[in-house]
Amino acid sequence: MKDYKYIEKQDKEVYDALVGEEERERTGIELIPSENYVSRAVREANGSVLTNKYAEGYPGKRYYGGQQFTDVVETLAIERAKKLFKAEYANVQPLGGAAANVSMYFALMKPGDTVLGMDLSHGGHLTHGHPTTSINKVFNFVRYKMKDVDTGEIDYDELREVARREKPKIILAGFSAYSRELDYAKFVEIAKEVGAYTVADMAHIAGLIAGGAVKNPFDYGFDVITTTTHKTLRGPRGGMIMTRESEEIAKRINKTVFPGVQGGPHMNNIASKAVAFGEALRPEFKIYATQILKNAKAMEKVFKENKVRLIAGGTDNHLLLADVYGSLGVTGQEAEIVLDEVGITLNKNMIADDPRKPLDPSGIRFGTPAMTTREMKEQEATTLAELMIKTLKDRENSKEKDVIKREVQKLCEAFPVPESFC
Ligand SMILES: Cc1ncc(COP(=O)(O)O)c(C=O)c1O
Repeated sequence: MKDYKYIEKQDKEVYDALVGEEERERTGIELIPSENYVSRAVREANGSVLTNKYAEGYPGKRYYGGQQFTDVVETLAIERAKKLFKAEYANVQPLGGAAANVSMYFALMKPGDTVLGMDLSHGGHLTHGHPTTSINKVFNFVRYKMKDVDTGEIDYDELREVARREKPKIILAGFSAYSRELDYAKFVEIAKEVGAYTVADMAHIAGLIAGGAVKNPFDYGFDVITTTTHKTLRGPRGGMIMTRESEEIAKRINKTVFPGVQGGPHMNNIASKAVAFGEALRPEFKIYATQILKNAKAMEKVFKENKVRLIAGGTDNHLLLADVYGSLGVTGQEAEIVLDEVGITLNKNMIADDPRKPLDPSGIRFGTPAMTTREMKEQEATTLAELMIKTLKDRENSKEKDVIKREVQKLCEAFPVPESFC
């Protein structure tokens, strides 16, 4: 394989794994909503010589010499991020979404302070204070939920009541398994009432915001956005923290990321972020973001026609959460395995107030960012959803599964993983 000629010569075991993964990505349909295919340009920057360089500090203020080029790429990443999300300040050094959230918490709070975030069983994320995380030992996390699991409406009355009672320092909007738009103006109204910061963890929908396909929390007065740079944003794995307008908050965030939480920034990764943000600033990215939503809607239609219960009643973004146990009698774990057998990758997921266990829950979560990168449109999204339903209903029938697998292969051949989006 032409990409890995040095690894091939030097390290056969790693080479075989890389070639295997390329093959897996090429020949299967990726429906995990947090995954995507990045461009070759993004991969080149990530694998570049900048991995050699230490650059503790920020552009213009570093602790080591030789920073003429690191400053260039970090400044490009910052300026492009600001433009994409309409932010005054951006810190592009967090190593991932979890690191971005940890830095944000320490920048805005003191140990013992309270965060009001979305209930984890209703779509919130582990990094929003799950009991198994270290951050849960430092800060106090309280919750709001959906009012109606079948429409996805957030219980804003409960949110206000808890905010008044608990006096949080941060009201956190954001999720990893929720498929509706949030009423950001309402969050800001409640936060002002109780004197809290508003933070949006937009990891899942950052690309949709950048592409103008969903609302931007900054347009409604949010103070801070944390995000990953992979997922819908289609950059390298990494994190980022943006501040709408407060220089004072931005300064605290910079100090907390470095030296507070992290050491030297990964400059290869930051160069790769700059390249990805450059791609997201192009007009084609808007079309991509809009198509992600159209494809998710096409899948929603098929699931509804087949009477499979969708949590929140459907989707306004890139992901869907289906109660396959309640609707088809197949557990999330079984569904994940059987769909993998026909070449469709997604993940099992707890549904709201799930009576089952995390490792064998009632639901599956799937989404359209990666298949849309392959330039599949509504027709292919419909076909895929139909193949999924067929597989789940006919899961014991290995002949039928072979037929479905061939259909999946045909789709993969017709829609190869692109190398470039420009
Ligand atoms: C909402 C949200 N925040 C944070 C993260 C953590 O990101 P990372 O895996 O890059 O640490 C995720 C990852 O899935 C996420 O969905």
